[in-house]
Amino acid sequence: MVTVTNRAGAIHPVWFVFWAFFLCASIYFLFDSVGDVLSPELQDGSTTWNRVVWYVGHAVVASPILLIAPFQFMPGLRQSRPALHRWLGRVFLASCMIAGLLGVYLGATISLPGSRIPLTLLGSIWFCFAAIAWQAARRRDFVNHRRFAIRALALGGAFVWVRIINRMQGEIFAFMPIEDLQETTKEWLTLFLPILITEVWLNWGPTVRKLFAR
Ligand code: HEM
Repeated sequence: MVTVTNRAGAIHPVWFVFWAFFLCASIYFLFDSVGDVLSPELQDGSTTWNRVVWYVGHAVVASPILLIAPFQFMPGLRQSRPALHRWLGRVFLASCMIAGLLGVYLGATISLPGSRIPLTLLGSIWFCFAAIAWQAARRRDFVNHRRFAIRALALGGAFVWVRIINRMQGEIFAFMPIEDLQETTKEWLTLFLPILITEVWLNWGPTVRKLFAR
């Protein structure tokens, strides 16, 4: 059973710290990207229809996801305003699916060859997790709905994670002499780390705790 409450049933303070950090980082990086979206630095051969529409469409559809997420994952609101949770949930999951598909195209055609496979995988898995979360809600399987919505958020959060890694890239990848290698490693980490951390929290951690309990 995945829980964010402590033994007394109160929401753990770390939960609030995480969401405050996530929201602040999201707003900061979204503002930081406005310039790129308004006048994209296009790769060779880009035209309105083969890139600009996909790029701007992806950015516009994906941005609300980060701002909706804290409301969707706060247990208080979910319980007190179920209708609002359902509507925001539809917007959240539909946006993940549309932005994910646009991300697959952008990732598969990006000029950096080392980024193509991790970005294409990231966009595809993001789409799948959101679609599974939606189907689970339709079937009223709320355990799996919550788990896959968390997984979708973890991958959508790539927007934030990749920019945090980016800021520290020079230091943490200092042992890699080639800049392209650093870029490729960053993209793979952006795919791998959210999956690793989410699965440790949802599955592997509880299993290990049970296996090693006295
Ligand atoms: C909620 C999550 C996301 C938001 C808010 C978001 C937002 C944005 C924004 C604003 C841009 C344009 C600015 C920039 O390039 O820095 C962008 C570009 C891009 N996004 Fe996302 N994104 C999200 C998730 C993802 C995911 C999961 C993928 C995985 C495929 C992805 C793939 C891309 C690619 C490949 C570009 C760059 C395209 C290029 O440089 O030509 N995004 N995104």
